[in-house]
Amino acid sequence: MTEKILDVKDLKLYYKTLKGYVKAIDGINFDIKRGEILGIAGESGCGKSTLGNGLILLKKPLNYISGQANLNGKNIMNLKNKEMNTLRFKDISIIPQFAMDAFSPTKKIKTFISDIVSQHNINPDEKFFDKVRERLDMVNLNHSVLNNYSIELSGGMKQRLVMVISTLLDPELLICDEVTSALDVSSQRFVANMIGDFRDKKIIGSAIFITHDLSILYQIADRIMVMYAGHIAEIADSDTIVKNPKHPYTKALISSLPKNDVQYKDEQLSGIDGTPPNLLNIGEGCRFRFRCKYATDICAKQTPVQEEISSGHTLACWNYKKAGSDKNV
Ligand SMILES: Nc1ncnc2c1ncn2[C@@H]1O[C@H](COP(=O)(O)OP(=O)(O)OP(=O)(O)O)[C@@H](O)[C@H]1O
Ligand code: SF4
Ligand SMILES: [Mg+2]
Repeated sequence: MTEKILDVKDLKLYYKTLKGYVKAIDGINFDIKRGEILGIAGESGCGKSTLGNGLILLKKPLNYISGQANLNGKNIMNLKNKEMNTLRFKDISIIPQFAMDAFSPTKKIKTFISDIVSQHNINPDEKFFDKVRERLDMVNLNHSVLNNYSIELSGGMKQRLVMVISTLLDPELLICDEVTSALDVSSQRFVANMIGDFRDKKIIGSAIFITHDLSILYQIADRIMVMYAGHIAEIADSDTIVKNPKHPYTKALISSLPKNDVQYKDEQLSGIDGTPPNLLNIGEGCRFRFRCKYATDICAKQTPVQEEISSGHTLACWNYKKAGSDKNV
């Protein structure tokens, strides 16, 4: 698992608004290796979808400011839309947030799929649909869904269909944005396991799995990247993030999770006091400082830089040694 499929360096993606720049992705560094599932977690508005969408299609008002996103060694941030079109679906594909609501209500599923792939110069002939049917088998969907309208399908069925459509060209990197959020618990588990199954069968090379639900990430991700207000707080293997986090924000997120063996009457979920900052024209300093009990003067003056504190464990915090050894969080 050493070959990097994606290597992101100091990437900045800002929304241009009438009031100024919303610094939604502001200088982040991470990579994804072949065969790896990287989970991305963080509160609403921290930039998860901006990152996922920005890697596929830079659409106004989102602007590329600086940095690199190297996909198989090529910086895709510099590509023209036409060049990028040759990579979409094949090298990099996305299941966008709310994708299962995007089926046309007036088209049968087969027609909907034909229309999508035709836009990517693929002939939706019977040979093509043989492959679709093979994939439907893999996700336990009856072939008859092709003759259904989306309204006739459950949320779990639609999400499995979205998964099949997004991976028809065996993408090297699949970005899954909140694919389990609107599903019941058993459908959540099925869809999450499908991502691992598709990776094991080499239908996808690797995946970014975005969710605010850390417990799902713990089940399926090899590594977890925790984001806060457009920055990366911490990246480590899933076990380290959940059992031995060092960044104050990760520690607070983990301590707000329900524990299996704890009764609510014995222990209250701590939650995280306060709200994330507004990212419009935001300046220097750690963006978590308003909510952080370890904040010191430097936290307001200088943005902490991402550093590798041990092999594969990266974080950005001036006071991580103090915070990391604190057992009271
Ligand atoms: N079109 C836009 N114009 C201006 N700001 C935007 C736009 N879209 C998103 N933002 C801002 O960018 C930041 C990141 O938003 P994003 O949707 O990426 O967050 P997220 O982590 O995916 O949240 P959620 O968990 O709710 O899906 C937020 O501050 C959001 O308000
Ligand atoms: S840099 Fe400072 S404010 Fe930010 S998380 Fe670390 S201690 Fe807290
Ligand atoms: Mg989102």
